[in-house]
Amino acid sequence: MEKILINTSGSRSEILVGENWESVIELLPENGVVIVTDENVRRLYGDKFPDVPVLAVSPGEQSKKLEVIGHLAEMLLANDIDRSGFILAVGGGVVCDIAGFLASIYMRGIRCGYVSSSLLSQVDASTGGKNGVNLGGNKNMLGNFKQPEFVICDTSMLRTLPEQEYLSGLAELIKTAVIGDKDLFDLIDRNYRKIMERDQEILIVLVARSVNFKASVVSEDEREAGLRRILNFGHTYGHAIEMQKSVKHGFAVASGMELATIFSYERGFISIEDKERIINLLGRFGLLEKHDIPDDQIRQLILHDKKKSGKDIRFVFTEGIGKAVVEKVTVDELTDLYKRFRDKN
Ligand SMILES: NC(=O)c1ccc[n+]([C@@H]2O[C@H](COP(=O)([O-])OP(=O)(O)OC[C@H]3O[C@@H](n4cnc5c(N)ncnc54)[C@H](O)[C@@H]3O)[C@@H](O)[C@H]2O)c1
Repeated sequence: MEKILINTSGSRSEILVGENWESVIELLPENGVVIVTDENVRRLYGDKFPDVPVLAVSPGEQSKKLEVIGHLAEMLLANDIDRSGFILAVGGGVVCDIAGFLASIYMRGIRCGYVSSSLLSQVDASTGGKNGVNLGGNKNMLGNFKQPEFVICDTSMLRTLPEQEYLSGLAELIKTAVIGDKDLFDLIDRNYRKIMERDQEILIVLVARSVNFKASVVSEDEREAGLRRILNFGHTYGHAIEMQKSVKHGFAVASGMELATIFSYERGFISIEDKERIINLLGRFGLLEKHDIPDDQIRQLILHDKKKSGKDIRFVFTEGIGKAVVEKVTVDELTDLYKRFRDKN
């Protein structure tokens, strides 16, 4: 088991990678605990949950909305949860985002911790303290920063994860490697078979490396004022693809990384060999799906993402494998690259 600490202004969070999730009981207060989970996770793991009230939402992105938060808050009240209460999330990125947001606003904030059960949430979503819900079709428009007291990443839970969800998480793992950890990239490259077999030993190493990297970035820049922006590698095009095609997050980000890698090569940030290595690795895991966004839409979709960041689009380039750099680019440059790529494929 590896313990990784995140120290940010006023809070401290422990990420326990390779820990048995059932030992969560030792980390909980004696009273006032409520579990937030989804129906799939409850069906698979509910019989081993601690004996506390369980609130289960419908699985998937459609539960990330204010109505669900309102309903859960009413259930907390009905269960007499007061300011000393504790929310334990058991689930993937959706459950952690909902539970973290709920904990950050219920009675102006109560304690929380996560058992992170999907690969995407173990390598990315549950580290960093960001939470949130969607507003209409707009992702993560309402949210907050709140560090959970602990996150348990038990890789044995990944055995029950559907294949597409597992691959989607792998995309975020590859993202981490490309922007910050060349050794992690080499490890993924060398261990294709073990990764596809969900070998526990290698998964613990990979998740721990990814969490370590994200923790170091978040500790330096909790509120995404600078360095943390590199975590958005592949996300500018990725969000556009996700909104247009409604594919799983990781697959859309993988296609976004392919485009960002090509752009990085055109700008002279990486060699042709590194460009090929990144794209080949994404392809080998079956992450690169075809997308064909029409001219009038790609511009709108990119502009949509821009709404959140103001005037400029800060684009994340890879500077060789293991390093990233953020530079301002124009919407025209991004749409032009997309069209050239699309028409060639
Ligand atoms: N807060 C952040 O910093 C951050 C970062 C990245 C992504 N996210 C968010 O994370 C969400 C995506 O996360 P996700 O991919 O984990 O989605 P998810 O929580 O919907 O989980 C994916 C699916 O896997 C199921 N599942 C989860 N664990 C399982 C297990 N052990 N066995 C079997 N099935 C299991 C779920 O029921 C669901 O159907 C998105 O909403 C995204 O915005 C947040």
